[in-house]
Amino acid sequence: MINRARLKELHKKEEERFLSRTPKSADRFAAASEVMPGGVPMSWMAKWPGKYPLFVATAKGAHFTDVDGNEYIDLCLGDTGSMTGHSPAATVAAIKAQLERGMTAMLPTDDAVVVSSELAKRFGLPLWQFTVSATDANRHAIRYSRLITGKSKIIVIDRCYHGSVDETFATLDSAGKTVMREGNIGAPVPLDETTRVVEFNDLAGMEAALKQGDIAAILMEPAMTNVGIVMPEDGYLVAVGELAKKYGAVWIIDETHTISVGPGGMTKDLGLKPDMLTIGKAIGGGIPTGTFGMTHEIASEIAKRTSREVIDTGGIGGTLAGNALSLAAMRATLTEVLTESNFKKMIALGNRWCDGVDAAINEFNLPWYCNRLGARGEYLFQGKAAVTGKEAAAAGDFELEQYIHLRLLNDGFLLTPFHNMALMSPDTTEADVDAHTKAFREMCKELVG
Ligand SMILES: Cc1ncc(COP(=O)(O)O)c(C=O)c1O
Repeated sequence: MINRARLKELHKKEEERFLSRTPKSADRFAAASEVMPGGVPMSWMAKWPGKYPLFVATAKGAHFTDVDGNEYIDLCLGDTGSMTGHSPAATVAAIKAQLERGMTAMLPTDDAVVVSSELAKRFGLPLWQFTVSATDANRHAIRYSRLITGKSKIIVIDRCYHGSVDETFATLDSAGKTVMREGNIGAPVPLDETTRVVEFNDLAGMEAALKQGDIAAILMEPAMTNVGIVMPEDGYLVAVGELAKKYGAVWIIDETHTISVGPGGMTKDLGLKPDMLTIGKAIGGGIPTGTFGMTHEIASEIAKRTSREVIDTGGIGGTLAGNALSLAAMRATLTEVLTESNFKKMIALGNRWCDGVDAAINEFNLPWYCNRLGARGEYLFQGKAAVTGKEAAAAGDFELEQYIHLRLLNDGFLLTPFHNMALMSPDTTEADVDAHTKAFREMCKELVG
């Protein structure tokens, strides 16, 4: 369908266009390469399309400007870290006020109570703890699950992502065995010692994995969001919860990305009853944070097995976890930015964006499919929705993706570098979305020649 020689030619043209538009980013990158491996502060920032990443001068709302003065509509939004829009006014005001009152004292502040109550209202779990990242929230939830069940392994879904958590970088090989995923760096032990992998939407596989009696927890997103979007089939999530209960495993839902469907994520929308829930990124409005919620039963099982004397040594912690600044940011973000009315607006925009993508896919007869998850949309290079992570991964096309991302970047749109995802913030406008629709159509038209 896509002529690869033509794709290469088009890509080359975009590479040249990128270089000519971004000379100052090129200079910054040369200097950065002297002091940081790959010229970036975190290794995966090297994944952006183009010869080097853009250097950002300012970001506000749904837009940012690079050091060359080029303006962009940001559909990546820090891969959900800035789903609130960049520097939302209410969060900034709360942060500024807290800056004058102390940023971290390793003691609770009033904001911690307000934030925990708000999270309880949204997700239905009564008790909350705070971390510095969603990764840490997942790590802690896993550790507590092992503690209270006395079991060693966790179940994850094939092609999941839950942050840089050792146990989760496993996949299924062609014989259905749990093995390490490609690119996994410095794993402490073989992954089949800590993890059992099952396919998404596969209840029989889930029960077979649980039946072996060694599973402490199931950690999963309610819809997969890190291999494209994969939606749960009707009844699947409720049935997973029932299986977890039947076999005595802790059911942990990770809502870090799926909060795109509304203030209480898919847990609220579908009336799910997990034992624990993790989330990070957007709830801090851009300030690093993470949190995990739990039932009274889980908290009381943990309390039975922990003692004050050694509480600072047991694999749960983070000196700056629950710091005053992040809690002030979360309070403002949850109560004033990620509100019901803003979600309504963001979800309408998400649908508008997907309508635009669908229209071009249909017009040019492309074998692609656009998935919708509230304020989030994403297209996959196959003609129908994927049912498992494996299927979604097989529909990837790195060469094509690199071209599309670079072309749209040159046209003034930033997509997330990991896949073809766009996210709407409360500051995104219909005009932003329609501009993308126009650029996306032009790109498709040129691509099919
Ligand atoms: C579902 C999910 N959970 C957790 C994380 C980890 O977030 P962080 O890298 O902020 O710790 C991610 C990151 O992409 C994620 O997608």
